[in-house]
Amino acid sequence: MADNLVILFDEQTIGKKVEELALQISRDYAGKELVLICILKGAFTFTADLMRQLTIPATVEFIQVASYRGSMVASQDLVIKQDIVADIKGRHVLLVDTIIDTGKTLACVCSMFRNRGPSSLGVAALLDKKPRRILYVDITYCGFEIPDRFVVGYGLDFNEQYRNLPYIAALDAVDLR
Ligand code: IMP
Ligand code: MG
Repeated sequence: MADNLVILFDEQTIGKKVEELALQISRDYAGKELVLICILKGAFTFTADLMRQLTIPATVEFIQVASYRGSMVASQDLVIKQDIVADIKGRHVLLVDTIIDTGKTLACVCSMFRNRGPSSLGVAALLDKKPRRILYVDITYCGFEIPDRFVVGYGLDFNEQYRNLPYIAALDAVDLR
């Protein structure tokens, strides 16, 4: 392991939390069908693990967005690189992301999907980096709150590296923003 990686959540800890979240989601949506929307690329690992623990019928869609950092206005900040395929009108939708940082991505994606008329729209995030929040996001299912540290692994990258790590680690001593 590189010297500058400090493990915050190991594989077992993540697995237990994902199981807890899936149980809660399965209970809350009992008798309903859920559309999971995975926010690429960072959420692919979390979405796959979460989905396999659900006991309710669920389908999955993928969206990829690119954010332009700097602007304070979320809608001017985000470009949809790949949209979902399914029509979500009248359906129960759960947006899945691994980490919420400033909240700009989620706030923008939420308002976009809300305009498409889903029956309900929830958010599941494994990590909440609360000290960095700029835009309010209502996180329905949250795994862990973390301090303002840049983290990698479990789908999260730094320059496309580290997504394959099975744990989540803080990447220290790099200039990230
Ligand atoms: P937000 O729009 O500022 O909330 O940023 C959310 C996105 O930024 C996440 O979906 C991640 O792709 C990325 N991101 C934010 N913080 C981190 C981090 O600590 N490590 C890796 N990616 C991050
Ligand atoms: Mg990234």
